[in-house]
Amino acid sequence: MDMQRSLNKAYSTSIESSRIAHSIGMTLDRFIKNNQNQFQYASGELSQLLRDIALASKVVNREVNKAGLIDIMGAAGTTNLGGDQQQKLDVLANIRFTRALAKGGEVCALVSEESESFVDLNNSGKYVIAIDPLDGSSNIDVNVSIGTIFSIYRRKSAPGTPIRQDDIMQKGLEQVAAGYILYGSSTMLVYTTGHGVHGFTYETGLGEYFLSHPDMQIPDDGRTYSINEGLANSFDDAVKNYIGFCKDSSYTARYIGSLVADFHRNLLKGGIYIYPATAKNAMGKLRLIYECNALAFLVEQAGGKASDGQRRILDIEPESLHQRTPFYVGSKNMVEKAETFNQLTIDSNGLQNG
Ligand code: AHG
Ligand code: MN
Ligand code: MN
Repeated sequence: MDMQRSLNKAYSTSIESSRIAHSIGMTLDRFIKNNQNQFQYASGELSQLLRDIALASKVVNREVNKAGLIDIMGAAGTTNLGGDQQQKLDVLANIRFTRALAKGGEVCALVSEESESFVDLNNSGKYVIAIDPLDGSSNIDVNVSIGTIFSIYRRKSAPGTPIRQDDIMQKGLEQVAAGYILYGSSTMLVYTTGHGVHGFTYETGLGEYFLSHPDMQIPDDGRTYSINEGLANSFDDAVKNYIGFCKDSSYTARYIGSLVADFHRNLLKGGIYIYPATAKNAMGKLRLIYECNALAFLVEQAGGKASDGQRRILDIEPESLHQRTPFYVGSKNMVEKAETFNQLTIDSNGLQNG
């Protein structure tokens, strides 16, 4: 018997370490299933919801990959092969995610960048989702990385009753899961349920996400700053001074203009992303509910920091659906350093006023 057991063990070890066919690792589905009991409400619905998002993202990935072809096909006529009107990718992505989530039945309401008010999915789902279906609009048509951002909340009202304001307007701290999909040189899905941050890379041949970046940690420090410096004339002194500090420190500037892509690079390598108040947008450009909250949850789970320059993003009580907030996110020490410049400005204003 013992002999048989050790033969079995040797056999499975040799299968696992075979150099003829390398192990392909763990699929997203398997990972979600294995970790399901970590959720506070381990009913399986959140797992299914994450799978719905993953599936919709595969469809969007396919559309993103043929974006150039859509233009070519569109030039021949205004309809595609299916006879549908050609749509811009961000509208397409919104339809794909909304449809997948509506069919799944776990989500009762959806907040999207593409819809002025929230969408009531008219079911007894227990979750509310906020989504930026396609992030990086200026990069959609030019073959540069774009993304999808999502936040998931538990509804407050009882399933089956009408959706209430407090189901929708929850602060970031109440997220039960959040993540993004990056349609880049490879496609990745990165998510957290409050137990670390895990990254999965899409294998197109098999049509599956595989765990490639378990337990991601952002370095405490970095030497990369990401900000649209073309707008620098309209930044306040604190931000101008911080950029001066970055230059004096010979930091490297990297700005893709797709929040997801800029965030992802800084998550892996260390760095800071800032979208501050500008002359055009007194509260910055980015949206609290479906852009900043998800990335703030992720970065904190990875050991980093996210603030509006002073306050922790996850503590902000939302007042409107499409509310904007200045956004500082990335390596802990870099965000803290940038915040000291705001503090200096406040202190010196205080002195001047006092
Ligand atoms: P979206 O495409 O969802 O509207 O978001 C675009 C955002 C974000 O992805 C990016 O970081 C930022 O806009 C870039 O803005 P600027 O062109 O003003 O730098
Ligand atoms: Mn966006
Ligand atoms: Mn968008």
